[in-house]
Amino acid sequence: MATKTRRLAYVRSVMAIKSCFSELEKISFFTEHHFICYPSLTYHNSTDRVYRDIERMADENDKTAIKTETALSQESGSAEKQVPELPPNDASKTEDDKKSDEPKMSKNQLKKKRKWEKAMEFKRKRKEQQKKVKLEKAKAEGRDLEAEKEEMEKRRKDGTGWAKRNQFWQEMFERQSCKYQIYLDCSFEKEMTHSEINSLANQIRYCYASNKKAKHPVKATACSLDGETRKLLNHVSGLDQWKHRAFHLTEKDMTEVAEDKSKLVYLTSDSTNTLTNLKDGKTYIIGGIVDRNRLKRVAINKAESLGIQTAKLPIEEYLNMFSTKVLTCNHVFDILLKWKENNGDWKKALLDVLPKKKEASEK
Ligand SMILES: C[S@@+](CC[C@H](N)C(=O)[O-])C[C@H]1O[C@@H](n2cnc3c(N)ncnc32)[C@H](O)[C@@H]1O
Repeated sequence: MATKTRRLAYVRSVMAIKSCFSELEKISFFTEHHFICYPSLTYHNSTDRVYRDIERMADENDKTAIKTETALSQESGSAEKQVPELPPNDASKTEDDKKSDEPKMSKNQLKKKRKWEKAMEFKRKRKEQQKKVKLEKAKAEGRDLEAEKEEMEKRRKDGTGWAKRNQFWQEMFERQSCKYQIYLDCSFEKEMTHSEINSLANQIRYCYASNKKAKHPVKATACSLDGETRKLLNHVSGLDQWKHRAFHLTEKDMTEVAEDKSKLVYLTSDSTNTLTNLKDGKTYIIGGIVDRNRLKRVAINKAESLGIQTAKLPIEEYLNMFSTKVLTCNHVFDILLKWKENNGDWKKALLDVLPKKKEASEK
């Protein structure tokens, strides 16, 4: 009973401190960790201090609850540390009383507090300044910001905002897109560990982000996406917008999605063929594999068993690379995008994408 009461009081103290910090707008840098650690440390080291803090911070309801629990705890005759009785309500105190009741801060705490207050003040002033500049600019252009804001809110609510954005993207895509496609073949999930699947989901996200930003986006499809990778992607906010950015996710295998198998080229570093250029109408397949070099030749084996052409990137032809030439899915994806952006210049495309740690340099 005593333990339960102490636990209840403790939980209330966490809530009280949390509500106090949120009031102080410190919530942005007080993490859950602080909320949990701070009261637990103080509770076990000094119950009095927690209750002084709570008394200073908590609202009337919290205090009543703590009082009740204190009484319960005392009734139960607990041998554990008793919760001290709370001083009278703040409302009945003068300002001076309140000040003298405030817990003293250490020099370090005071320094941190002042620093934080200064930063907040700076932030507030900067925001005000930015708002002023924006307003003046809008005024000079003869725009009615209030009306624009209302219109935007209206569009957000009825969904026409997204529709307009999607239409804009579609038109841009039609004008500028690459005429070749990319598939990500995610059928190897069963051979991958949980952390590799997690990495794959992240790599797919990078591919989507690159494509969205690309000068010449490409129509992309992640195929055989029905297991854990899909579940992980389902948590990504805005996933339902991906299809409007020409990035599709499907449970179907690539052979079901593709209309013509002869147009498929499976990219794999194990191939004996080297890509010379990317052809309109072709679909380049990247194996959705994260294997830390464990699953040897799985991509080429699949391609050969299905009778699909294979090719490797022309890395050796253009670069000196001392590390592995087996790249991640998102790097391969980005190279295919950069090839188009750099008007078919493989060297530039490779150097633009490959990270410095790969120690890639021009030949
Ligand atoms: C991390 S690799 C997977 C390596 C895996 N052991 C395999 O059998 O393909 C991920 C995918 O990126 C593509 N890839 C990686 N490096 C490549 C290269 N040098 N040339 C062509 N494709 C490459 C392939 O499609 C490959 O399946």
